[in-house]
Amino acid sequence: MNDQKSAEWTTLEERCRDCRACALGATRTNNVFGTGDRESPLMFVGEAPGADEDAQGIPFVGRAGQLLDKYLLVTDLPRDKVYIANILKCRPPHNRDPEESEQDACIVHLREQFRLIRPRVLVCLGRIAAMRLIKPDFRITREHGQWFCKNGVWMMAVYHPSALLRDPTKREDMLRDLQEVRRKLEELGCAPMIEEASE
Ligand code: URA
Repeated sequence: MNDQKSAEWTTLEERCRDCRACALGATRTNNVFGTGDRESPLMFVGEAPGADEDAQGIPFVGRAGQLLDKYLLVTDLPRDKVYIANILKCRPPHNRDPEESEQDACIVHLREQFRLIRPRVLVCLGRIAAMRLIKPDFRITREHGQWFCKNGVWMMAVYHPSALLRDPTKREDMLRDLQEVRRKLEELGCAPMIEEASE
């Protein structure tokens, strides 16, 4: 990564760390910026940090995150070779859904992350991210696993890993969807980037 890009990352991280654009800035323990390979062709976006993420400052480290890691491993998309972030960088109290106004305030940070990474494939983890990033009337049960191409970026939504904890019958779909993500990276000639990075 060149010097200018790493300076932009540093500025963005500092901006997020100090952000008070919505009320969640006052209640967070940690800002949960994002994690993984900043040059990955594959980006995952969840909805918002939970209690474990708020405590550690890292996305998807709680039970749902541990389950996600297992899927990433078996589909050959290891966590440190992809980039993972959320729509909101701060935890909503009692794990409630992010409010529209919070999303509006926070999305600027995600857009910047997206601009710096320029992923070829973006996977929304769950309904909230899909409604924000793919289309407002997204129906996760009906439309998970389907591709949407926006400005040359391939986008798909999969079930949120916490939905898999609640309903194990969805697990087969999750596996199939992530295998399709892997296949798309191969088709785009991006899978080698993931492999090289993991060596
Ligand atoms: N759920 C999310 O959507 N994001 C996290 O980081 C953790 C749980």
